[in-house]
Amino acid sequence: MPELNPPSRILLGPGPSNVHPRVNQAMIAPMLGHLDPDFLKIMDETKELLRAVFRTRSEETLAVSGTGSAGMEAAVANLLEPGDRALVCINGFFGGRLAEMAGRYGAEVTRVEAQWGTIIEPEAVEAALKAAGRIKLVAIVHAETSTGVRQPLEEIARLAHDHGALLLADTVTSLGGCEVAIDDWDVDAAYSATQKCLSCPPGLAPLTLGPRAVETLRSRETKVRSWYLDLTLLDNYWGGKRAYHHTAPISMVYALREALTLVMEEGLDQRIARHQRHGEALWAGLEAMGLTLHAPREYRLPVLTTVRIPEGIDDAKLRRALLFDHGIEIGGGLGPLAGKVWRIGLMGHSSSTENILTVLQALEQELSAQGFRLGKGAGVAAADRVLGAG
Ligand SMILES: Cc1ncc(COP(=O)(O)O)c(C=O)c1O
Repeated sequence: MPELNPPSRILLGPGPSNVHPRVNQAMIAPMLGHLDPDFLKIMDETKELLRAVFRTRSEETLAVSGTGSAGMEAAVANLLEPGDRALVCINGFFGGRLAEMAGRYGAEVTRVEAQWGTIIEPEAVEAALKAAGRIKLVAIVHAETSTGVRQPLEEIARLAHDHGALLLADTVTSLGGCEVAIDDWDVDAAYSATQKCLSCPPGLAPLTLGPRAVETLRSRETKVRSWYLDLTLLDNYWGGKRAYHHTAPISMVYALREALTLVMEEGLDQRIARHQRHGEALWAGLEAMGLTLHAPREYRLPVLTTVRIPEGIDDAKLRRALLFDHGIEIGGGLGPLAGKVWRIGLMGHSSSTENILTVLQALEQELSAQGFRLGKGAGVAAADRVLGAG
């Protein structure tokens, strides 16, 4: 075997994003035992930082071992019991995954669907809640990575509570890059992932439960079907009792703690403003090149932009050229948007002015090479104007 030597890429896809050098450094810190008091202190600090980033006071805030899907599965497995009824909002790929998981854990699932690229309207949720009768959980994706749409949550939280249901939100792509205000929005449970706007390697899933969700967990009649993701057992380790459950991924916890510290050093508000400004600069650049953005501006995610692929352009060929000739990764479309959109992420450490200008230049070159007519330098100039104005 040759020595391991992966190339260095500019990661501007739907995640993972580039990892901050300080986070890489944190991962090579000395190994500690998972019950070493010094490691337990690092876990406590990580919990405190997670509460700040989720903007919640809830003590039931921790990091599940595994990627974002483990966070999703933990939330679904713990909040639903066989025979419970769940209302799952689906306007993209990850809403569909939530529905699949809820079904596998024995829930009866009612789906509220909307087109990929639009939001779920609160009226549709209200009508479904009224029609369905007793619903225990409403699940929805805050930042739909497959469509680039940001879903407003407050109104849907209120509707869920009016009907005696909990609200579960997927904040995998928004946490650390967009406003996420768990307590102010009255969201009962949320999960995320480390590899998007937190710019940490993939491997942990931040998760928080509010008081209603904790109560639901405590009053379960059946055991959680997943032993590994049983939040009561996990909380016995992350919380006061420090009872061994499974060996924590020590180096990943170091990495997450460092990534969250970087968020706090930048300032959460400033970081959110940076992602917004950079998203707007990218949009201006892409539009000035004659490209059309898929998500409506009002609900567009600054951290993940969906761009329609122009007629006659070879999607795979262009993404290959970006990757191998420019060292830039962008994402292709998922599900019904496969072959129709590109997904350009500006998340965490990847969200820099330099990366915006580099990807616009590279896109200009590769689109021109395929015969797409555009004004030379128009994209970079438009993005520069937005960045200069900021
Ligand atoms: C909105 C959303 N939810 C869930 C996931 C699943 O996360 P993971 O791939 O880390 O398991 C993703 C991953 O891209 C996502 O974008």
